[in-house]
Order: sequence, then structure tokens, then C-alpha cells
Amino acid sequence: MKEILKVAVTGATGNLGYSLLGMLGRGLVFGMKQPIQLNLFDIPQQSKMLEASVMEIHDCALPLVKNVVATSDLSVAFKDIKAAFLVGSVPRSKGMERKDLLAKNVLIFKEQGEALDKHACKDVKVLVIGNPANTNCLVCSHFASTIPRENFSAMMRLDQNRATAQIANTLGVPPSEVRNVFVWGNHSVTQIPYAGLGCVTVDGTPKPIVECLDDCYLNGAFVNDVATRGAAVIEKRQLSSAMSAASAACDHMHDWWHGTDPGEFVSMAVYSDGSYCSPEGTMFSFPVTIENKQWSIVEGIQLTYDTKSRIFKTARELKAEKEEAMSLVCGGGGDGDKKAKTEKKAEPKKDEKKADAKKPEPKKEEKKADAKKPEPKKAEAKKPEPKKAEVKKPEAKKPEPKKPEPKKVEAKKPEPKKEAAKKPEPKKTEPKKDDKKPENKPKK
Ligand SMILES: NC(=O)c1ccc[n+]([C@@H]2O[C@H](COP(=O)([O-])OP(=O)(O)OC[C@H]3O[C@@H](n4cnc5c(N)ncnc54)[C@H](O)[C@@H]3O)[C@@H](O)[C@H]2O)c1
Repeated sequence: MKEILKVAVTGATGNLGYSLLGMLGRGLVFGMKQPIQLNLFDIPQQSKMLEASVMEIHDCALPLVKNVVATSDLSVAFKDIKAAFLVGSVPRSKGMERKDLLAKNVLIFKEQGEALDKHACKDVKVLVIGNPANTNCLVCSHFASTIPRENFSAMMRLDQNRATAQIANTLGVPPSEVRNVFVWGNHSVTQIPYAGLGCVTVDGTPKPIVECLDDCYLNGAFVNDVATRGAAVIEKRQLSSAMSAASAACDHMHDWWHGTDPGEFVSMAVYSDGSYCSPEGTMFSFPVTIENKQWSIVEGIQLTYDTKSRIFKTARELKAEKEEAMSLVCGGGGDGDKKAKTEKKAEPKKDEKKADAKKPEPKKEEKKADAKKPEPKKAEAKKPEPKKAEVKKPEAKKPEPKKPEPKKVEAKKPEPKKEAAKKPEPKKTEPKKDDKKPENKPKK
């Protein structure tokens, strides 16, 4: 029998936390053979609700749940845990400014970072979900100085799942047939859902998504629909996404725990080393691969001028959030990097540094390169692996990097093909069908 794994969920009685508990208890994250202890944390005002949640978990008679702890004490909630889902946060109330929301929440995540540092296992994996998730995650990591910063990530998987579902619905295929759609940047409307390396299997044949859907849709309605999907759910439900968010939290931690399939990328907001013009030292969403519970940023992706411009925008937002948050918790412009964590991070490449400077315009040569006449595409690959970008390990002991394929997915994009299955008019993506919908992505 495996040792019992202690898992904490904060905000456990909230909309999202409540949806998450049953999924964890059913073994959807840590596996069907892994017994768990669930530590439910919420504020004292929620104590009755916490008690009710414990009763319900007992009433589920879940074989994997060996113990349930309900508490409003972080030292109890985080004691010896190996995984944390930090959901709890103050919701935005009517009339509350974003700045006030950030101020309230970063203090929560400062306190939780300190508590994790004192009480959790040093190899704990911390998934921050409460918004603003990326910056809360950064603050939490900053105040947990003895836990490697690679062990912290913010959730972008809901955005990735939404993007996957949009593509699947648009092409009339199940979401399981869509691979490697991911999201760059911040969990906000500035995020960049990206299908440039994605692949879809239509009638048994794998194809790059860029051959099935036109640029106008992929750079327009697709990006917009995914980025505003959360607001669209709130408008109808009068509450934020809970079931889909809990499911995404499970997907995120599942893949972190068990690894990604060969050739598969997933979106995680992780501590940025400056890759792809992201601001170093923010929690930025990249495509990553995961092995032995370590994520690695996928390298070598050639971006278009348009995507770079969007990255500058989300980067600016994250940088501003970081400055604001750090000035609140460190009392003035802290950089979030004071505490040396594991090893020294790689210096951002020269041109990326330059690109990250005030002026958010990509360099002229890049503009030119994007405008170059597309080279003919290679013959359709038999396998749905249109991307072989190398991956960057966050650890010092970096294995020999894979050969960088000089991938030029966007730069070489040919005119959209005519035989593309059900190529949508960009506007025809409405009404969206994904409320009916997507089957869960099959897990490894
Ligand atoms: N990253 C994502 O993709 C994503 C998706 C959906 C929701 N979210 C965010 O997740 C969070 C939770 O959403 P929800 O719908 O469950 O909200 P909710 O208001 O229903 O629940 C919030 C929970 O946090 C608890 N809480 C309040 N103050 C706290 C504190 N100081 N410490 C710990 N817990 C505290 C509340 O008691 C409540 O249980 C929100 O910030 C939401 O914006 C993120």
C-alpha cells in the first residue's frame, strides 16, 4: 500500500473548491492507487460549510480518501503536504477596483507562501488558481523561499481547454482529436490562445490546425472567444466557472504529477526566464513538457509579428501587476527575486532583452521575416507531431537539449488549404456549442 499523500485545498467551500473535492477523491489526479488525505482550508466564517463538506466526503465513501481534515489554520492545512490547490481568495465585489482586489489577494498569498515554507514538504507542488492567479503565485513563491520556485505554477489550463474546445467545435471533431493548442501570458483578457503548433485529426488524418482554419479566424474570433469565455460564463451563471475550472485544475496537477505524453505540450504559468520576450521573474504561461515532475519550456517556436505584439501586451500587464503586488507586500517596488531559490536562472537572450525594453514593437527584421514569402509546406506528416521544438529545463542539470528544429510554423504558413474540413466563417463560430459538451480529454 502506498504512503498516504497529503493534499491541501484552500477556499474549499467555495464554488470551485467544492467542485474539486470529489474529483480529487476519485483519484483523477494522483491515480487510482494513491490513497490521499484531504486538508480542507477555509476562513473561520465558513466553518459550518467546511463541516458539511467533510460530511459529504465521508458520505461519498471514496476508497482512496483515508482522512479528511477541515481547518482555518494554515499550519494545520499545510502540514506535510505534497500538493496544494490554492483556490481561496477574495472575490471581486461590486464597485471594487482591480487594484483593491489585487491588494487584498496578494496579502492572502503572502501569508500562504510563508505557511507553506514552514509546514509543507519541500517538494510540494503548488497550483495557484485564485485570481489574479499569476501574480498571486509569484507572491506565494516569493514568501516560500525554501521551496524551489519551479514548484509553483498558476493555472492556465482552463484557458487551454477552452481553446481546445473552440477548435474542436469549430471543426466538428471531439476535443480528444485536437492536440497542442496552448496559451501564452497572463490569465486575463490579454492572454494569447495559440494554435500555431496545434494539430487536429479529421477523418483519421492528422493535420496542422493552420491548414484547417484560416488566419482571420485564428487571430480574431478564436483568440477573442477564448479570452472572454470566463466573462461569458459569469454573465449567464452569475458565478464564475467552477466545474470546468476544477476539471482544469485536475488536468494541470495530473500532468505535473505524471508527465506529458511524448510530443504533447501543455500550458502552465511558471517562473519566467525571459523566454519569448516574457518579463523575467513573472509567472508567465508557456507551452511546457513535463517529465519526472519537472516542467520544461518548449523552445524554438518562431512567432509572427502579430503574436509577438500580443505577447508584449500581456507581458506589460504582468510586469505592472508584479510591481504593484511587490510594492504592497515588500513595501516598495520589490522585484520578487530577492531570495535566491534553486539555481541561477539563465540570462535572457540578448535580442529578447532588447525586445522586452519599453518599446513594445518587434524588431524590423522580425517584421520582415514574417512577411517573407511562405515556403511550401512539407508533405503532410503521418504523425500528429507538427512540433518538435526543444524544451528548456528549469533545473541546472539540464539534459542535452533536443536538436532545435528550425521550426517556422507561422512564418512558413502557406495559404489556407481548400480541402480543409468545414472551414468556418469566422463569425460562424457562434453560437458556441461547448456548453453541450466536450468529453474529458483522455488521461494518460
Ligand atoms: N485560474 C483560473 O483559470 C480560474 C478559473 C476560475 C476561477 N478562478 C478563481 O478562483 C477563485 C475561486 O473561485 P470561486 O468561484 O470558488 O470563488 P468563491 O467566492 O465561490 O470561493 C472563494 C473561496 O475563498 C475563500 N476565501 C476567502 N478569503 C479567503 C482567505 N483569506 N484565505 C483563504 N480562502 C479564502 C472563501 O471563503 C471561499 O470559500 C477566484 O479567485 C476565481 O477568480 C480562477
